[in-house]
Amino acid sequence: MKILVTGGLGYIGSHTVVALQNDGYEVIIIDNLSNSNIKVLHQIKKITGILPDFEKIDLRDKEAVSLFFKQYKIDGVIHFAGSKAVGESVEKPLLYYENNLTTLITVLKEMQKNKVSHFIFSSSCTVYGQADKLPITENAPIKPAESPYGATKKMGEIIIKDTTKASTIKAIALRYFNPIGAHKSALIGELPLGVPQNLIPFVVQTAAGIQKTLSIFGNDYPTPDGTAIRDYIHVVDLAKAHIAALKRLITNKNKTNCEFFNIGTGKGSSVLEVVKAFEKATGKKVNFKIVDRRAGDITTAYADTSLANKELGWKAELNLEDALKSAWAWQLKQ
Ligand code: NAD
Ligand code: UFG
Repeated sequence: MKILVTGGLGYIGSHTVVALQNDGYEVIIIDNLSNSNIKVLHQIKKITGILPDFEKIDLRDKEAVSLFFKQYKIDGVIHFAGSKAVGESVEKPLLYYENNLTTLITVLKEMQKNKVSHFIFSSSCTVYGQADKLPITENAPIKPAESPYGATKKMGEIIIKDTTKASTIKAIALRYFNPIGAHKSALIGELPLGVPQNLIPFVVQTAAGIQKTLSIFGNDYPTPDGTAIRDYIHVVDLAKAHIAALKRLITNKNKTNCEFFNIGTGKGSSVLEVVKAFEKATGKKVNFKIVDRRAGDITTAYADTSLANKELGWKAELNLEDALKSAWAWQLKQ
């Protein structure tokens, strides 16, 4: 089967392309290289032995996308392409609405037109905001978005759900918790541009001496050590969840035409626990200082993954230590 992976040269996309190829799928990638490098294509070949097909297309270019769908016979789409920096989305809301929503609509329209019916979407635990109950199940209420980025994920889910009601498209939206780590080969990983905004890239760059000190945003949260808690999921496990979701659609195991699954480990770790786990896993010291809370941050989020475990037959296999070691190995290669 031939699967279109949009944003397939990015962080999560590249790991998913590897998983797809290892599982026997043929892959074609669309990416505009706005947040990735063409070298990733060759790194994928080094890992899997197969060079995936690639088209440099900006998904905002409706004509190019239309031509693409006419040219290639596609069996399914995994849609990663989009912009993902929460802070930047506050400064450039229109860029985020355009790049995350109009591209989604364009892809869905072409799928509908060309009778491509399997669609997997990258959603986020951001749709839950600060959930009232922990761990977070898929039935937890969707909260008002904290940023334009969050709004695009919330709206994206609505667009997909409505489309599946009115077409032959069947979709699964995966709500990722916090993806971290890198492939064991250290040939692909996360490439943050400029100063990292996310915790793990900042931790590894501090250990590597690129950043001087990690600022821990707040130690006055109502948690055991006062720092905020997240569910960190290894990107290799996350990639496998996409294969499980795709197989569910292909084999008609889906229960409704639009399903939502939490993808996490089910375990919450505080910022201080992550720093200590990193130091233990790598033997490297991380200088840190406590600063004020970061605006828009929630206190605690970790997933109830029982639905994904049962329905997708998927479970995270790697732990925080594995993920931190792989993130460090990736950093050492940079
Ligand atoms: P990434 O930036 O590494 O990958 C996205 C890829 O899409 C990049 O290669 C970029 O060049 C490409 N792209 C962007 N706009 C495009 C366009 N208009 N046309 C064609 N290509 C385009 O991001 P990622 O971390 O791999 O995230 C993938 C998806 O998962 C995104 O939708 C993101 O919102 C979502 N997500 C990410 C996280 C996370 O923490 N990384 C968490 C939850 C959800
Ligand atoms: N943190 C620090 N210092 C840093 C960076 C992060 O203390 O330099 C803390 C944050 O305050 C938070 C935790 O580390 O408590 C994790 O922060 P990240 O930025 O790594 O991840 P977030 O949970 O804030 O972000 C994730 C996804 C986004 C999504 C968001 C919604 O990366 O895509 O959840 O909550 F939008």
